[in-house]
Amino acid sequence: MEQNDLRELYIDELRDVYDAESQLVKALPDMAEAATSEQLRSGFEQHLEQTRVHVQRIEQIFNELGMKVKGTKCKGMQGLVNEGKKMIKEDFEGEVKDAGLISAAQRVEHYEIAAYGTLRTYANILGEQEAAALLEETLQEEKQTDQKLTELAESINVRAAGEGTAAGSETDEDVVGEISPNRRGKAAGMDH
Ligand SMILES: [Fe+2]
Repeated sequence: MEQNDLRELYIDELRDVYDAESQLVKALPDMAEAATSEQLRSGFEQHLEQTRVHVQRIEQIFNELGMKVKGTKCKGMQGLVNEGKKMIKEDFEGEVKDAGLISAAQRVEHYEIAAYGTLRTYANILGEQEAAALLEETLQEEKQTDQKLTELAESINVRAAGEGTAAGSETDEDVVGEISPNRRGKAAGMDH
């Protein structure tokens, strides 16, 4: 059957992101377990709880459309999750491993931000106001998660750079002190 309207595309992409989120629910516990930093671990655990809600929101959208809740394989997320799994198995340790986990997780968040931004826009155009509001809520949570990962990376990456060097811990504080205020300024700007 030929599909040639935006509503069909919208539904296809909802099914794609539904599968993507479901894959993430399975992947996040392993990411949390692999993290060394307590903050990073709890960040992954918090995002797991959020991701479960993201799944429920998509189910709610399907229900309101009177459609069966059904996902279609999201190969993009499959690739990103596989890269995350590869990072978990890599021989890195401590902060360097954490830096790698953050890198993998931010790729996932950026992918989701793109998907939800598009879906929210489609929902608005199609006059699906309630769905648009749900998708916008998830979009904001993905952006906040990305921002939290950036903040964690600011300290973890610098400590990772210090690993294996004698002066590592001294360098850390100086550089973090320089970066953080600047970044916080940017974060505040993004909220508007
Ligand atoms: Fe999500």
